[in-house]
Amino acid sequence: MSNKNGRLHLWAFLQGIGFFPGGWRDEGATPRAVFDRGYYERLGRLVEEARFDAIVFGDQLQGRDAAGRTPSRLAIPTLDPFTLLSVMAGATSRVGLVSTVSTTYNEPAEVAAKFAALNFVSQGRAGWNIVTTAHPNSPWNFGETELLEKSQRYARAKAFVDAAEVFWKDAGGKPAGDRAAAMANDWFNFSGTLDFPTSPQYRPVLVQAGQSPDGRDFAAQTAEAIFCPAPTIDAGRSYRDDIHERARRFGRKPEEILIMPGLAFVLGSTEEEAQAKHKHVLDLADDLLCVEYLSESIGYDLTQHPVNAPFPIEEIVARCEFPAEDVRRMLTPAVEANQSIADYCRDYARKPRGHAIFVGTPDQLAQRMETWIDAGACDGFTLQPGFMPQELELFCKEVAPLLQQRGLLRNEYQGPTLRDHLGLGGQA
Ligand SMILES: Cc1cc2nc3c(=O)[nH]c(=O)nc-3n(C[C@H](O)[C@H](O)[C@H](O)COP(=O)(O)O)c2cc1C
Repeated sequence: MSNKNGRLHLWAFLQGIGFFPGGWRDEGATPRAVFDRGYYERLGRLVEEARFDAIVFGDQLQGRDAAGRTPSRLAIPTLDPFTLLSVMAGATSRVGLVSTVSTTYNEPAEVAAKFAALNFVSQGRAGWNIVTTAHPNSPWNFGETELLEKSQRYARAKAFVDAAEVFWKDAGGKPAGDRAAAMANDWFNFSGTLDFPTSPQYRPVLVQAGQSPDGRDFAAQTAEAIFCPAPTIDAGRSYRDDIHERARRFGRKPEEILIMPGLAFVLGSTEEEAQAKHKHVLDLADDLLCVEYLSESIGYDLTQHPVNAPFPIEEIVARCEFPAEDVRRMLTPAVEANQSIADYCRDYARKPRGHAIFVGTPDQLAQRMETWIDAGACDGFTLQPGFMPQELELFCKEVAPLLQQRGLLRNEYQGPTLRDHLGLGGQA
């Protein structure tokens, strides 16, 4: 699906102070700014001036101390996304505002009302990144001890979105198809309506990030845009083809779903400068920071072992908080290659969460984006700046104009709503 003006979609995924775990230690970084309202207002204006579709914030429902594994040293605090986006709504007038909200730990009536409110105050710029919450420490914050099993989480997610849809339809006086089934089922049993008029763009744009078969099916059924990790063009194309195929099976048109892989970037005025900057940011993460970073990701405190020791794989698998088979699959190559804990953790901190990382000049980045779009590998990118706010500022100043010159990125917004920016048509 293409924009009237530009065919590349750009989202800014703004996590804490940037993509790399050591980035906050750069002399130009301003880690304390993540607690400052003005920081978010400036960022909102910046990406709006560069004509991005949307800003996205993640959520974090597990304990803030990560069971002792100190995000303060990782400096990626995740403040409540709804609050941040409400502040940004006041500082901007066009850019979309996508908030992550879990369907495992909320209730449909409340979430439907919150998104209606964000749509009202932003005049139709809300989006919902629907997540099912994978971190096994999360239930402890909700009076529970066990995370629901994944297929159950996705079953609840589907029922949750169907129920929220009833509230939004009611608010607009639209007939809600299977109202009775959505209101009373294995997951929910409620009555009542939102006593609101229809909000601008009727409901938030629905966004998802499913990787597992259950996650992909859920995304293919419900999402209008999807995040995914895609380290190569082939990975992007294969994910996009798979989602399109699943969408057809659910009776949807593939072009109704935009595929937006993550893309981290480090820019320099020459390739050498960008490489040097990349090395600098990686060097900012010392061995212990890298070990803490992986510890948080697998839910097992590796700092209790010497950094040069081999992985105590059986002990990790027996005691980690994430599903043992996932952690074993992740660590087995390191064990087979005889990597020490420090070696593997350094590698892991270089390429967080499997997303593509670009290192080079603004011109090369614009070219790369065009190549991916032309190859059908994606509909746009969920940008994750290597450093914040410097790399985002560089992108907006240097790369966005190049994308506009290439006719890839809009020069002006064509309408007021996020749905307009995404070319998703009028009201769903
Ligand atoms: C770009 C991106 C952002 C994500 N943000 C969040 C988030 O903020 N909160 C969350 O619980 N999960 C988040 N996830 C994780 C996904 O929702 C999902 O749990 C993960 O991709 C695994 O999918 P699966 O459970 O279908 O395998 C994100 C995933 C991606 C790719």
